[in-house]
Amino acid sequence: MEINYDLIDTTGPAPEKEPLRQQYYILKCREILREKEKKLGRKLTFFDQTFGCQMNFKDSEKLNGILEEIGYVKAESEAADFVYYNTCTVRENANVRVYGRLGTLKTFKKKNPEMIIAMCGCMMQEPEEEEKVRKTFKFVDIVFGTHNIFKLAELLYECLSSKQRVFDVWEKTDQIIEDLPSDRKFGFKAGVNIMFGCNNFCSYCIVPYVRGRERSRKPEDIVAEVEKLAKEGVVEIMLLGQNVNSYGKTLDQPVSFAQLLTMVEKVEGIERIRFMTSHPKDLSDELIKVMAGSTKICRHLHLPVQSGSSRILKKMNRKYTKEQYLSLVEKLRDSVPDIAITTDIIVGFPGETEEDFQETLDVVRKAQYDSAFTFIYSKRSGTKAAEMPDQIPDEVVHERFDRLLKVVNEVATEQNKKLEGRVETVLAEEIDEKDSSMITGRLSNNSVVHFKADPSVIGKIVPVKLEEAKGFYYLGRMCENG
Ligand code: SAH
Ligand code: SF4
Ligand code: F3S
Repeated sequence: MEINYDLIDTTGPAPEKEPLRQQYYILKCREILREKEKKLGRKLTFFDQTFGCQMNFKDSEKLNGILEEIGYVKAESEAADFVYYNTCTVRENANVRVYGRLGTLKTFKKKNPEMIIAMCGCMMQEPEEEEKVRKTFKFVDIVFGTHNIFKLAELLYECLSSKQRVFDVWEKTDQIIEDLPSDRKFGFKAGVNIMFGCNNFCSYCIVPYVRGRERSRKPEDIVAEVEKLAKEGVVEIMLLGQNVNSYGKTLDQPVSFAQLLTMVEKVEGIERIRFMTSHPKDLSDELIKVMAGSTKICRHLHLPVQSGSSRILKKMNRKYTKEQYLSLVEKLRDSVPDIAITTDIIVGFPGETEEDFQETLDVVRKAQYDSAFTFIYSKRSGTKAAEMPDQIPDEVVHERFDRLLKVVNEVATEQNKKLEGRVETVLAEEIDEKDSSMITGRLSNNSVVHFKADPSVIGKIVPVKLEEAKGFYYLGRMCENG
């Protein structure tokens, strides 16, 4: 991101147009920060705590990019001058965790009067949560939502210059602001938003309410971002959206997700392409064909099933049946050899009977998942499912959940033996947390591999012999020419 600040006059009023307006506020904040630095004799620091999914982590990279552009330096802990919580509200326990941690921030603020605390993300899109922060957590200075993260500099300037609390949550938006800074966590891999929001309204899910309607970025903007990332040394990209398979449908000149993939594939330097998340109802034959013919698209598909019972799937508003889902899995396995399929499953949706649950276990066995995220149904107010009769008692849900986990683990352990003995390419990602002589990396199919190597291989794709399958990961040996 190159911003030409010479074109911006901070002595005049703020420009109306974005991203110019935010660039103006970045400079205005910078001026205030310089004063503070002089007074304190040190740099000012920031810290983020991010909850939830890849979209939120991507948003935090953008927020961090803005903060760094302003002049804040990243801190290691919450003892910082600007701390923000980027929240998730997909399940109740996500909210509980945020409020739990928020209390500890108050003590930091007592010690540091310069400290500014901000809350943003999906939870803040819920009016009752915003109200709770306004009334109960008076030490929170800035609150914004998912639609206006690009405005951070402006909100921060308002707070710094007025010394008042700033609340700015938008109900919705049709804007997509390009060209603001971003601070990437890894040098060699990066997430790229291809779309925002969701139109599916699965009956249990709060995401469409807090992330708004589906909006796709233009393919040329996405390709330009990927080209820039490749020039910066990125070898693996993850295309992000709540339902990537419906990408491009709302553009003035519609483009399919499969077409987008073929465009992105052409970018030189990008060696691996991943994407998240695929909704089974929109997974096209065209996409399967593109995946099958590609050397860059990874051999992994995350295909959330949610339930194995067609009756429950209907109540969930998922728009596919158990049989349709399983035939999709079969088609994928036939067309894309070695593909790993992973999923999300919800246990205890209202009205779920033992028979329905048995159907879920059956799908796990038949689909042969490489791994699965399993969730206990959480009632989200405002969603259709929250109004449904027959909410399932906790003890029944927990008992089913434990049984499901057992079957998922059995199937996954079996799947994870598949590549044992083979030589596969691995993207070396980081030093192993438990043994610093080892490197942790990922296969194309997303399985984790630990192998002995020098940290200088991090960021490179190297051949590794998968010597031993250990259930959820492999132990490997890097090949001589790697
Ligand atoms: N857009 C993605 C999922 C986003 S939310 C998709 O459609 O696949 C990630 C996962 O959280 C979902 O797949 C679902 O399994 C789970 N989830 C969403 N709402 C939930 C709820 N109310 N209770 C429990 N799990 C939920
Ligand atoms: Fe939620 Fe369904 Fe949209 Fe996924 S597709 S974000 S589960 S509403
Ligand atoms: Fe959570 Fe929002 Fe993602 S609710 S799962 S952070 S879209």
